Amino acid sequence: MPKAELHIHIEGSLEPQRIFALAQRNGLTLPYADVEALRAAYAFEDLQSFLDIYYAGAGVLLKEADFFDMAWDYFQRAAADHVVHAELFFDPQTHTDRGVPIEAVIIGLHHACQRAHAELGISSRLILCFLRHLSEEAAMATLEQALPLRHHFVGVGLDSSERGHPPEKFARVFARCRELGLHVVAHAGEEGPPAYITSALDVLKVERIDHGVRCTEDPALVQRLARERVPLTVCPLSNLKLCVVPDLAAHNLPQLLDAGLCATVNSDDPAYFGGYINDNFLQTFEALPQLGARQAWQLARNSFEASFVPAAQKQAWMAQLDAVFAQAADAA
Ligand code: ADE
Ligand code: ZN
Repeated sequence: MPKAELHIHIEGSLEPQRIFALAQRNGLTLPYADVEALRAAYAFEDLQSFLDIYYAGAGVLLKEADFFDMAWDYFQRAAADHVVHAELFFDPQTHTDRGVPIEAVIIGLHHACQRAHAELGISSRLILCFLRHLSEEAAMATLEQALPLRHHFVGVGLDSSERGHPPEKFARVFARCRELGLHVVAHAGEEGPPAYITSALDVLKVERIDHGVRCTEDPALVQRLARERVPLTVCPLSNLKLCVVPDLAAHNLPQLLDAGLCATVNSDDPAYFGGYINDNFLQTFEALPQLGARQAWQLARNSFEASFVPAAQKQAWMAQLDAVFAQAADAA
């Protein structure tokens, strides 16, 4: 079925083979003997244990072409999964702090977006994320650095280590982003408490919550998210691999949908979590028998509703989705 992917960290799509190829191209030596040894290190106990490896992997990205190759790899996989629209997160501070010019990051990604549109028919947008373990001053400086390339990204997000770094820490930089007309989103309620979801909404005034799965610990918050139709970009395989849930059968995705939330399914960091968007759908639906065709349709529809594109484009994709389901019903 056609779908939009709204929660993918492009650095999280760097496959081990690509990490080794880029290391070789850039004359870098990795602390792993080979692809298998690197993959063997992908056993995470929480968000931080993943982030440590994820930032190390991103260290092979130096040149504009590296960012292009990474994103083009992703787009080809997304096309195979019938993704018609993707909103890509990128973490400039991970690169600029190593001396990589921000232009190399954004222009490399932008060229991959252009090629994805031309050759695969995939529409896309870029969302610049601030690293929440760093200071608000550093986020503000990154925003200023990126502003000459403002036309290449549609919004900002907030990611990295959640616990101990509440949304309030970034109140001023998000206010500035809103003034600039940027869309605003934030990771909240992944490992952090439901109160972080509330402050992302009230203080940062975000339009979507990334993850947000811990909202079900606060029934009043669930009601608010449903009433205000705040989208949640849920990533089931990520939640499993980072031990947010003990197994997929315990995931609260069915509860979120039953409560009328605008939940979506996404891959987060597919190269690290064992699957792209369709793997997330397939494994989650297999583990949760309450999920069927109706919920698949709803999740895809929600992904279009929650995307940052004009209303007419959303309607066109929703019509495409309905046609696919009508055809499947006829065939059954
Ligand atoms: N950066 C990449 N993936 C992330 C996640 N799941 N949570 C927070 N920051 C991230
Ligand atoms: Zn994420």
